[in-house]
Amino acid sequence: MSKENIWQGNTTFILAASGSAVGLGNIWKFPYMVGSNGGSAFVLVYLICILLIGLPVMASEVLIGKYGRKSPINSLKDISLKFNISFAWKYLGVLGALAGILILSYYSVFAGMAFSYIFNLFPSGLENPSSYSTNYFSDFSSSPMKLIFWHTIFLLATCFIVGLGVVKGIGRSVNLLMPFLFLFIILVSIYSGITGDINKTLIFLFNPDFSALTPQVIVSAMGQAFFSLSIGMGAIMAYGAYMPEKQLIGKTVLTIILLDTLVALAAGIAIFPIVFSNPSLSVNAGPGLIFETLPVAFYSLPYGKIFSIIFFTLISIAALSSAISLLEPFTAWMEEQKKLARKNIVLILGMLIWVVGLGSIFSFNIWTEKRILGFNFLEAIDYITNNIMLPMGGFFIALLVGWLIPYEFIRENVKFSNFQFRIFYFSLRYISTSAIILIFLYSVF
Ligand code: PFF
Repeated sequence: MSKENIWQGNTTFILAASGSAVGLGNIWKFPYMVGSNGGSAFVLVYLICILLIGLPVMASEVLIGKYGRKSPINSLKDISLKFNISFAWKYLGVLGALAGILILSYYSVFAGMAFSYIFNLFPSGLENPSSYSTNYFSDFSSSPMKLIFWHTIFLLATCFIVGLGVVKGIGRSVNLLMPFLFLFIILVSIYSGITGDINKTLIFLFNPDFSALTPQVIVSAMGQAFFSLSIGMGAIMAYGAYMPEKQLIGKTVLTIILLDTLVALAAGIAIFPIVFSNPSLSVNAGPGLIFETLPVAFYSLPYGKIFSIIFFTLISIAALSSAISLLEPFTAWMEEQKKLARKNIVLILGMLIWVVGLGSIFSFNIWTEKRILGFNFLEAIDYITNNIMLPMGGFFIALLVGWLIPYEFIRENVKFSNFQFRIFYFSLRYISTSAIILIFLYSVF
C-alpha cells in the first residue's frame, strides 16, 4: 500500500472507526434489544462483554490490519505467514467478509426506514400521537414496495461511497458528522429525561435484575456487543490498514469503545422515558421501537419537525458510515485479486445484498408466517450473524493474537502502558476466549 493511502493525522482513524461502530446498532438496536431482553440484566452483561471481550478483540483487529495494510483476508494471511502459522487463517477473513454482506442486507432495510422518516412529519392537531405513530409504522412495514424503495436508495448510497474508495469516500465524510450526532443524541436524551419518566428508565436500565438473566439474554448481549463495536468480521481490521504508523492502538481503541458505549446508553435514556410515559407504547416493541417512539417525542417538542428532520438525517448518515464498513472487507479483497474494478465489484455485491435484503423486507409482510427453526428470515439472519458469526470471528482473532503471534510483537505494537498491557493481554488470552466459548455452550445446552 502506498503512503498516500494512509490517513493523515490521528483523528481520521478514530472518526472512521467510530463512524463504523456508532450506527443503527446504538440508536435503533440497543434500545429495542434492551427492551425485549428484560432491561438492566442485558445492559450489565453487555457492558461486561464490551470491556472484557470487545476491547481486546478490537485492539487485535487493528493490530492485524495495521501490520498487513491490506484487506482483512490478505492481512490475516500475511501475518500468519510472517510467524509461520498456517495460511488457512485467511479463511477467518472470508467468514467475516461474508458476515458483513449478510448484515448489510438487513441493515440497509432499517437504514432505509430511518432515512424515510426524515420525510415523515406528523400532521398537526393529533389527539393521540402515540397511536398514530404505531399505526404509521405498521402500515409502512406492511408495504413491501415502500420498504424496497428505501432499501434501494440506501444501498445505492452505500455502494456509491464504497465505489469511491476508503480514503476519498470515507476519510472525509466522517469528520463533521460524528461530533454533531453525539451532541444531538445527548440533547434529545436530556429533553426526554425531563419530559418523560426518567426514574422508571434508570431503574429499568441500571438496577440489575438477575432473575432476567437467561442464557438467551446473555448470548444476545454478547452478540450486541460485537455488533455495536463492529468487531468479529474485519470491519475495524479493514480500517486498521489505513491507520498512521505512529498512532497508538491502545489509546485509540479505548476512545472508540467509550464513544460507542456512551451513544448507546444515551439512546436508551432518550427512548425509554417516552415509552414509559405513553401507555400505548411498549418496551418490547422489537425493531419498530425507535420508529414508534421518537416521532412522538418530537411531536410534542417546540420546533419538533425541525428536530425530527435533523435527528433522522443524523441517524441515516451514521448508518451510512457503518454500512460502508460492512461492505469494505469483501470489496477490498476482491479488488486485490485485480480481476475487476472497484466499481464493478461494488455493483455485483450491491445487487446480491439487495436480493438478500428482500427476505428481511418480506419478513414484515408477505412472509410473516414463514419460519426457519422458529425464526422468520430477518430474525434468522440476525441470529446467525450477530450471535454466531461475529463471536466466532472474535474467538479466532483472540486465539490468533493471544496464543499464536509472539508476545514481543504484540507488546511492541499495541503500545499500552505496562499495567494496561498486562490487563489487556490477560483478557485477550484467557477471558475473552473462554467467555465466548462458555456463552456459546451455555446457550446451546
Ligand atoms: N456497529 C454498527 C452499528 O452499531 O450500527 C454495525 C456494524 C458495522 C456491525 C460494521 C458490524 C460491522 F462490521
